[in-house]
Amino acid sequence: MGHIQITPSILNADFGRLAEEVGRIPGADWIHVDVMDNHFVPNLTFGPTMVEALARSTDTPLDAHLMIDDADRNAPAYVEAGCASVTFHVEAARAPVRLAREIRSAGARASMALKPATPIEPYEDLLPELDMLLIMTVEPGFGGQRFLDLCLPKIRRARAMMDKHGIETWLQVDGGVSLDTIERCAEAGADVFVAGSAVFSADDPDAMVAALRARAESVRD
Ligand code: DX5
Ligand code: ZN
Repeated sequence: MGHIQITPSILNADFGRLAEEVGRIPGADWIHVDVMDNHFVPNLTFGPTMVEALARSTDTPLDAHLMIDDADRNAPAYVEAGCASVTFHVEAARAPVRLAREIRSAGARASMALKPATPIEPYEDLLPELDMLLIMTVEPGFGGQRFLDLCLPKIRRARAMMDKHGIETWLQVDGGVSLDTIERCAEAGADVFVAGSAVFSADDPDAMVAALRARAESVRD
């Protein structure tokens, strides 16, 4: 398991002042950028041009979470836009191995996401192709949803598979992560934590990033 990392989602930040919003969380390891196309999920955010402008406005690396159809065709643009990590959904990829290799060879970390009802078992042999696995803990599409405890066994099984293969793939959780739920995720084996509403609805977002980190670290032996 890697060290604990916190990646605040800007989905619940003020879209009219994104550069300033990102400036409020200097302690974040990454900035989580939720890209939605109104097809893969029933919500629409932004595309590569906007992401490129955001990348230029901060020194913190961008962690793009692509909730978009036809990932094979659309994901490489986010590497070009300057994202250091690009996550595609396996449900939207026709050739996930080829896509992960393409993302890596273009110079970004390659990551694959699973919706809550998508099992990990069919993808065990694919894990060495990935720098990170994202296990969604809400149905993707919106911030501020309630954490789904039913995803915890999958996190545990995914971490056990990684241990079995002797690989250090990062395991990210996204959706409903807060001071109340982060320990459960860390205990199950997650090491990269997305938090949207928990961070951006806090009076002091950077203090919340530190508090989330401390709580996740507290379950490590
Ligand atoms: C949901 C997004 C998440 C979301 C997290 O589709 O992928 O990144 O913004 O927001 P919270 O932490 O509020 O669930
Ligand atoms: Zn996300």
